[in-house]
Amino acid sequence: MAAALVWIPLLAGLLAGLGRPEAQQTTLQPAVGRFFVHTLAREPALRLPEHVAVPPAVPVTYHAHLQGHPDLPRWLRYTQRSPRHPGFLYGSPTPEDRGRQVIEVVAYNRDSFDTTQQRLVLLIGDPEGPRLPYQAEFLVRSHDVEEVLPSTPASRFLTALGGLWEPAELQLLNITSALDRGGRVPLPIEGRKEGVYIKVGSTSPFSTCLKMVASPDSHARCAQGQPPLLSCYDTLAPHFRVDWCNVSLVDKSVPEPEDEVPTPGDGILERDPFFCPPTEAMARDFLTDALVTLLVPLLVALLLTLLLAYVMCCRREGRLKRDLATSDIQMFHHFTIRENTEELRQMAARREVPRPLSTQPMFKVRTGQHEPMFNVRTGRQLPPQVDSAQVPLILDQR
Ligand SMILES: *[C@@H]1O[C@H](CO)[C@@H](O)[C@H](O)[C@H]1NC(C)=O
Ligand SMILES: *[C@@H]1O[C@H](CO)[C@@H](O)[C@H](O)[C@H]1NC(C)=O
Repeated sequence: MAAALVWIPLLAGLLAGLGRPEAQQTTLQPAVGRFFVHTLAREPALRLPEHVAVPPAVPVTYHAHLQGHPDLPRWLRYTQRSPRHPGFLYGSPTPEDRGRQVIEVVAYNRDSFDTTQQRLVLLIGDPEGPRLPYQAEFLVRSHDVEEVLPSTPASRFLTALGGLWEPAELQLLNITSALDRGGRVPLPIEGRKEGVYIKVGSTSPFSTCLKMVASPDSHARCAQGQPPLLSCYDTLAPHFRVDWCNVSLVDKSVPEPEDEVPTPGDGILERDPFFCPPTEAMARDFLTDALVTLLVPLLVALLLTLLLAYVMCCRREGRLKRDLATSDIQMFHHFTIRENTEELRQMAARREVPRPLSTQPMFKVRTGQHEPMFNVRTGRQLPPQVDSAQVPLILDQR
């Protein structure tokens, strides 16, 4: 019974897997140089019917990559604050990214271990509308990147910025987390955020207020820790805390001059009245220099050699002094040791030698004679008055 209870959901899961429809496909059209953001929805990941609200407690994570590649294209970034928050794909395509890119997104339901796949077809084209030559970047310290990616806060930022800039057409060009630009993860204190860089473009020139904030004077004040020169009312103020020291303005209204193509010359310099090379060099004699350089060290070396040779050969204290300084008994010991060594060497050379005297027993019985003992070394007979109590002891050594 219990086994059946386990198997039924498994089978149901398998059948659902078999009947799984093709990966869901979405077509999107980012524009080169304009900000693009796509929210990864949780509903398809949970495979809920349309009308059922997503339970916020279900954790879902995503993995996105360019089709046929392990990671995302360079311009596209992925972020998700936690598995219970939505995921975002965002970035700003560059001219090299023009064309079609297919992003595959796998969503993992962390409760049921269910996965779903999604395909995003990105058709990257040129932006419509006029060029946006006036571009400004702001560092917003009061927000994390996920908090400005949804469309509501982003458009609210643009509206608020419109109060500082001529109410012209403002467009988002790029949004980057400050962490990606060398920022630090803040301490987990209420109200501290990572910060986010927001880049905005417009057709109309910068207002004097913005120009003043980004002027070198203002930067100099910032470097000294003083507030920057903000001459107008900060319309972003209560909601967005902009770091006015980190505003950068780029004016692309004047097209950059094309680099001149260098024309190859004939390789010969033109005549230059200020260039006067030294015409003739004085003849110089280097013989003395060479001789001094070579001979002096040679002479010194020779002198030292001679000195050393004299000390070594003529001032040597020789054998005579050594022999005189050694006591006679020491000389005698030395002599004996040498003689014994010599004997051993000779024995080693020839195997058929009589046993060395040092290995013979001291006394031996001479067979067939009435005097029983003689000294092997001297050949002399023992005097007859030798104490006969010692004899057997010596005989045993035969
Ligand atoms: C957008 O910002 C990121 C991070 O600073 C940068 O790498 C990228 O080049 C920017 N994109 C454009 C189109 O400026
Ligand atoms: C902000 O600007 C100041 C001065 O220009 C600079 O020293 C600092 O590094 C900038 N901070 C960030 C996070 O870019």
